[in-house]
Amino acid sequence: MIIDGKKVAADIRNKIKSQLGHFPNTKITLATVIVGNNPAGQLYVGMKHREANAAGIHSKHIDLDENISQRDLEEQISLLADDDDVHGILVQLPLPKHLNKERMLSKIPSYKDVDGLTDVNMGRLLQGHKQLVPCTPLGVIRLIEAYNIETSGRNAVVVGRSSLVGLPQMLLLSEKGADATVTLAHSRTNDLAEVCKNADILVAAVGVPAIIKADFVKPGAMVFDVGVSRVDDKIQGDVDCDAVSKIAGGITPMPGGTGPMTVACLLENTILAATLQDVLPRSH
Ligand code: GUN
Repeated sequence: MIIDGKKVAADIRNKIKSQLGHFPNTKITLATVIVGNNPAGQLYVGMKHREANAAGIHSKHIDLDENISQRDLEEQISLLADDDDVHGILVQLPLPKHLNKERMLSKIPSYKDVDGLTDVNMGRLLQGHKQLVPCTPLGVIRLIEAYNIETSGRNAVVVGRSSLVGLPQMLLLSEKGADATVTLAHSRTNDLAEVCKNADILVAAVGVPAIIKADFVKPGAMVFDVGVSRVDDKIQGDVDCDAVSKIAGGITPMPGGTGPMTVACLLENTILAATLQDVLPRSH
C-alpha cells in the first residue's frame, strides 16, 4: 500500500479552506524568514506560501542577509512577534553557522511558533499538554490517523533524534492516546537492522540516503520516510523504497509522502496559532 501524503495533505488544505470560508473578514497571516542564500530552503518556503494561499491563509516573506548579526536577526523576529497582523512565524532552518538558533527561537512567542520548536512548545509536548508541535512528526501522525493504522501497544522505531523530527515523533507516538512502545534509534545505535526489524511502525528521519534496506523491515510494517537527500540530482529518501515496498504493509513515497504533510500541518498549526490568539473562535 502506498501511503499517499499528497492526497491526505490536499484533504487537510481543503478542510482549512472551507473552515476559513466561514470567516471571510478574518485575515490570517503566516510570516516566513530565510537567512542567506539557501536554495533548498527557498524551494520549501515557496511551497509553504503556495499552499497557504491556496487554503486562504495570507503570507509574507522576509529575506535576510547571510551576514546578518545575531542582534539584528533577533530584532527582525521581535518585529514579527509584535505585529498583530502576523499570526505565525516560521524561520527556515538551518541558519548560517555564526547564528544561534536557540536565542533566535526565544524571540518567537509560543502562540506564533507554528514550527513548534520553541522551548515552551517543546516543554508542553514533553509534559503532556502539547499545543503547537513540529510539522513533520505531526504530519506522520496525521497519516497514521488517515489510514487508521493501529499504534496502541505496537512497536514503533524512530530513526534519528533531531528536535525537528525524531524527538517530537517519539513523544507523539508514545503519548496517551497513541500508546505505541517507542524505540529511538540514531547514528550510534548498534545493529540498526535488528532494532528496525522489531518495528510495526518505522519512521526514518536521519538524512542518510537509502539507509533503511529491505532486511531492516518486518513484513507488513508501516514505513514513513522523512529523510530527504539529493543523490545524482535525484531526490532520495532514507528508505530504499523499491526493495522495502515489497516487504512493508504500507510505505510513503518520496516525493509525495511526508513532505506534503509537513506543509499541510504548517497550515493546520497556523490555524491553531490564530485560534490561540483569539483571531478565530476556539471551537473551530
Ligand atoms: N528545515 C527543514 N525542515 C524544516 C522545518 O520543518 N521547519 C523549519 N523552520 N526549517 C526546516
